[in-house]
Amino acid sequence: MKYRHSFHAGNFADVHKHVTLLALIAALQRKNKGFLYLETHAGRGLYDLHSADTHQGAEARLGIGALRTANCESPQITAYLDALDRACANSNSPGAYAGSPVLAALSLRAQDRGICCEIQAAECRALERALNIYARMRCECVDGYQALGAHLPPVERRALVLIDPPYEEQADDLQRAGDGIAKALARLANAVVVLWYPIKDDRDLAPWLSRMAAQLRVPALVAELWLHPRDARVGLNGSGLLIANPPYQLDVELAQWLPELGAALGATRQGGTSVRWIAHEQH
Ligand SMILES: C[S@@+](CC[C@H](N)C(=O)[O-])C[C@H]1O[C@@H](n2cnc3c(N)ncnc32)[C@H](O)[C@@H]1O
Repeated sequence: MKYRHSFHAGNFADVHKHVTLLALIAALQRKNKGFLYLETHAGRGLYDLHSADTHQGAEARLGIGALRTANCESPQITAYLDALDRACANSNSPGAYAGSPVLAALSLRAQDRGICCEIQAAECRALERALNIYARMRCECVDGYQALGAHLPPVERRALVLIDPPYEEQADDLQRAGDGIAKALARLANAVVVLWYPIKDDRDLAPWLSRMAAQLRVPALVAELWLHPRDARVGLNGSGLLIANPPYQLDVELAQWLPELGAALGATRQGGTSVRWIAHEQH
């Protein structure tokens, strides 16, 4: 596998994914009962945006860099920026940028726990180091799709699952991720399952989303943010999240803060944001 998330850490797609992830965790924490946070594709947890690994944060300048100068007011966005500051303070490194495992670890309560899976050995060792100060979060060097079978259903009977594949082979990864969602829901029907997907060309994406909509037996929505026309040849035009079993009113909240995030990241010129139900809309 050639994929290294370091090159992309802090880009607009990371920001979109991570703000939404923290909003989901906050929504699950409206109930006192604990839950399992299970991440199938975790990466290394912490990135150094001053390092050569991240190309000195080249992609991050248009993501987290743009967001930091935008003075957003939505509580979901400011909560994310606060979490990043706390992660950076914990790491003692001025260029530190937190990936989803560390952001989630910072948010878990005493009654919650987390498991993050990463298949590349070197990335996994870095993840272990990044997580070792967070008692509620554990790291496993395994195939995340197999981990779905191993850890679901959890004793808590509540779970938030993040599936965030590298998409080196887009069609294969979309297929595997769709199967992963089905597997998670077959093992725990009420699991909140989030899948990140790239928006490169709608002509490839639309048929897959239609298939997902037809297969899903639970409520599901998609929240998308795109910076370029959805068939532009720039590589990554936008960022999408499919959320199965979204917490109550998540759609309403997303519709309030996602446009502000999109504007901060430059989605207003040729891009946009959208939140829409693809299956079994909740009322
Ligand atoms: C997009 S990155 C994850 C980024 C991370 N979720 C975040 O937002 O900070 C995808 C990661 O999945 C890992 N990976 C690829 N296939 C995997 C598999 N089958 N199981 C677990 N990890 C995998 C890659 O090595 C890579 O580090």
